[in-house]
Amino acid sequence: MAQAVVETLRPHPAGRYLDGTVGGGGHSAAILTASAPDGRLLGTDADPRAIQAAAERLASFGDRVVLRRCWLDQAADVARREGFTPLDGIVVDLGLSSNQLDDPQRGLSFMRDGPLDMRFDQTQGITAAQLIGECDVAALARILKAYGEVPHAWRVAEAIWAARPVTTTSQLKEVVTGVAGSRAGARRAIHPATQVFQALRIAVNDELRRLSEALPRLIEALAPGGRLAVIAFHSLEDRIVKTVFRAAAADSDEDDAPGFGVSKLPDAPRPVARVRLVNRKPLAPQEDEVRQNPRARSARLRVVERIEDVA
Ligand SMILES: C[S@@+](CC[C@H](N)C(=O)[O-])C[C@H]1O[C@@H](n2cnc3c(N)ncnc32)[C@H](O)[C@@H]1O
Repeated sequence: MAQAVVETLRPHPAGRYLDGTVGGGGHSAAILTASAPDGRLLGTDADPRAIQAAAERLASFGDRVVLRRCWLDQAADVARREGFTPLDGIVVDLGLSSNQLDDPQRGLSFMRDGPLDMRFDQTQGITAAQLIGECDVAALARILKAYGEVPHAWRVAEAIWAARPVTTTSQLKEVVTGVAGSRAGARRAIHPATQVFQALRIAVNDELRRLSEALPRLIEALAPGGRLAVIAFHSLEDRIVKTVFRAAAADSDEDDAPGFGVSKLPDAPRPVARVRLVNRKPLAPQEDEVRQNPRARSARLRVVERIEDVA
């Protein structure tokens, strides 16, 4: 969705931009190209190897680009420290990159056998194998249900727990298939291990907490007229983006929350809007993009624009 990101951020030559999930540097390269000759970009990512890959990919942009390793919830502070605020545009492209997914040593895909790691930053924190080893069944079931919406989460958690130590991606896939069946057997659209892998990855990297804490900070780091574009890959992420954006826009959608809209409380002071919603419905990728990159099919882009502070 690099094209859609550039169209929505409208980079200009005097602009300062943040790519909070720089990955392989695709979005960053598009923003730097569109903001030539003087636009500057700070690229951050939790994964030191992504920072390395981005450094190679973006080398030709010279000192217009600065790269720092940090989590998304720290990115606004890093931007402030590096002199990039107020920002004219921010892009956040959640989830994981093809480089991470395709590397068996990262343990992020059940299509490849490898250690059950799943950390975006393999230099710190606990691996998925350690998490499974340290959780009790109830905690594991909660993770599977909350972060993967795994059907029969308790049954799947019990099977994983009983199989401990679970140390490889193949072993986890086998345990899940044993209890939940394969895609063909269960006539499901996706392999049941997909949701289990997603849930453990989100837990290992504390992704949803980081996202909900990061978004208000990123909004505050924007210049008036600056835009924040977020691409989410599943409904849990998209729900957080939608909720934070609507709260920051002091927007109440009574269809979404009947009876709880702000306008239902005539005496309550109306919250002050910090942003306006650029698109009320999230944008989805074009069909030809999905044909070229099937992993993009579930991407949803939401955008807000910072408005002037009310004195
Ligand atoms: C989909 S990829 C980004 C791809 C990038 N837009 C490009 O064009 O190459 C997502 C990246 O975000 C990083 N990431 C995901 N969640 C993060 C978080 N909470 N904090 C920091 N980085 C995160 C991952 O390490 C990964 O490199």
